[in-house]
Formats: sequence, structure tokens, C-alpha cells
Amino acid sequence: MATSMVKNMLGSYSDYFAALGAVAFSYLALKFACALLRGLKQFFLARTLGLSANIKKFGSWAVVTGSTDGIGKAYAEQLAKMGLKIVLISRSEDKLQNVAKEIGSKYSVETKIIAADYGRPDIYGKIQQQLNDLDIAILVNNVGMSFEYPSFFLELPDRDNMTSIVLPGMVERRKGAILNIASEAGCMPTPLLSVYSACKSYVVYLSEALNTEYKSKGIYVQTVCPCFVATKMSKIRKGNVFAPYPDTYVKSALGTVGVVSSTNGYWAHALQVWLTHLLPDCISKPMTFSVLNGARKRYIKKKARQQKTE
Ligand SMILES: NC(=O)c1ccc[n+]([C@@H]2O[C@H](COP(=O)([O-])OP(=O)(O)OC[C@H]3O[C@@H](n4cnc5c(N)ncnc54)[C@H](OP(=O)(O)O)[C@@H]3O)[C@@H](O)[C@H]2O)c1
Repeated sequence: MATSMVKNMLGSYSDYFAALGAVAFSYLALKFACALLRGLKQFFLARTLGLSANIKKFGSWAVVTGSTDGIGKAYAEQLAKMGLKIVLISRSEDKLQNVAKEIGSKYSVETKIIAADYGRPDIYGKIQQQLNDLDIAILVNNVGMSFEYPSFFLELPDRDNMTSIVLPGMVERRKGAILNIASEAGCMPTPLLSVYSACKSYVVYLSEALNTEYKSKGIYVQTVCPCFVATKMSKIRKGNVFAPYPDTYVKSALGTVGVVSSTNGYWAHALQVWLTHLLPDCISKPMTFSVLNGARKRYIKKKARQQKTE
């Protein structure tokens, strides 16, 4: 009797697990098929089917930064080949003149050059002046500077200040912890918080790279990525399970130091992130936009009410 009950129970459980397995497999198969179709569409079919944007319809000029070499120069050439006039921006005047001459004679398009060093903060006024009257179809923000060769953080000449003050002592003592408070917004591109999200992704990347570089020297570098916490910044006054008060959040987050190198810091935040990542991008991205757009509209309404009563 007991054996047959156990058998029955196991039987129904195995049906349940088989169904669950089939759903999980179908979901993964669907994700794979979507990724494959996306890849085929963007790399092999877009041009043939005429899906790529007709950039010439957007205007007559292309602006390409870092355009005297490498990828930037190749963009400048391809865009000139499409018939666009080209603004070339790089540091070296002589290189700019050569490339402008080369592109101008090869593709018979007008070119303009601006010599500017993106390592300096005071270049934008001059660039804006020269671009003001142009009908710009496309901007290629290509300029970027990388390391001379792969280096440890403490070997870098220009580095993040607080960490570079504290880290050498920790390395000497072969112990210490650095907690970098990033944000979940730094782990996924977050609309309506664009610059904040981008800056926090810098923190996430820096922090995770530092952890790998320095863990063998006895130092924990932990990346902390909270979702909403009830603070002035989030403008959430009343805490709840998904937006805990700061003391609740920090108590939980501190318990994770030395356990994991990257954390959401609080169980409900981890659950929220896990659930969000289960959703396909086409649902999670508009959902995030809609939540934040709702918050934006509420804030603007509230401000307007306050201004009326003042
Ligand atoms: N190559 C890769 O494997 C790779 C991989 C991933 C991403 N990227 C990204 O692709 C972009 C282009 O890289 P690339 O490999 O084509 O570089 P590149 O061949 O070294 O060319 C760099 C271009 O930027 C200009 N430039 C450099 N520093 C500048 C500054 N401070 N101000 C103004 N212009 C400056 C250079 O001209 P002047 O010297 O005349 O100023 C040159 O035209 C970068 O954003 C890079 O991070 C490259």
C-alpha cells in the first residue's frame, strides 16, 4: 500500500518535472532561434532586403571623430562612398589634411577638418561653432583611448582617485576591502536614466576588473548593485520589501562582503533582478521604460502642483 502510494506520488512528480523540463527547453530553443534570426537579419539579410537605413535621407553631412585612422577612417570612407560630405575630427592637423584630400579626390565629396584633442575638456565650443550650420545626417562618436599595454590598476598614470589613495596601503598589508556602490542601472541599459546608467556601468566594470586584479593580494573589491532603496535620491519615502530602508539594505549587503564579489545586496533585489532577466528584452526594456516614465510623469505633475501653490 505504502509502496504504491510512493510510486504514485513519484509518478505524478515525474510528469510535473517532465512538463517543466519541456517548457524550459522550449523557452531556450525559442531564445536560440530568435538570436539566430536576429543575427541572420542584421549581418546577412539587411542590405539585400533593403532594411538598412538610407543615411543620405537624414541630411548631407557625416561627422566622424577619430577619423584619421582605423575604424573611424573606414567609417569616413564608407560614408563618403555613399555620397555624404564628411567632417573629419582628430588631433593631428597634417593627418586630417591628408585624409581629407584622399577622401575628397577618391569619392568627389566635400570635406571639412577640425583638429581637436578629446583629452582636453575645452574643445566643444570650437567644434560646435564649426558644425552649427551643417545639415548633419550622422555622427560617428568613434574616438576612444585605450591602454598602451595591459596593466594593473596601480600601474596606470591617470586613475580613479579614492581607490588609488587607499589601495597601495592595502596591497602592502595584503588585506582590505573596497566596496563600490554601483546600481542595477549599471548592469542593464536604463532608459530615462541614460547618463546615470552609463556612469554606473563604468563603476561595475572597473570594480569587477579590480577584483580580479587584486584578489590574489588579499583584497576584496566588491560591486554592490542595489535596485530601489528608500532614500532621498530615489524619492521613495515609505520603505517596502522591494525598496527597503537604507539600514535594512546595508545590514544585508555588509553580510555579503567576502562571500561574493558582486551582489544586489538584498534578497528582494536579487529576486527582482532574477525575475527581470527571465523576461526577453522585448518585454523587459519597454517595461523598465514604462515604470520610469510613470515616475517621471508623477514627478512633473507634483512639481507643477507645487509651483501653483507657491
Ligand atoms: N581596434 C579595436 O580592436 C577596437 C576594439 C573595440 C573598440 N574599439 C574602439 O573603436 C574606436 C576606434 O579605435 P581604432 O582601433 O580605430 O583606433 P586607431 O586606429 O588608433 O585610431 C584612432 C583615431 O582617433 C584619433 N585620436 C586618438 N586620440 C585622440 C584624441 N585624444 N583626440 C582626438 N582624436 C584622437 C586618432 O587620430 P590622431 O592621432 O590624429 O588624433 C585616430 O584618427 C575607439 O573608440 C576604440 O575604443 C576598437
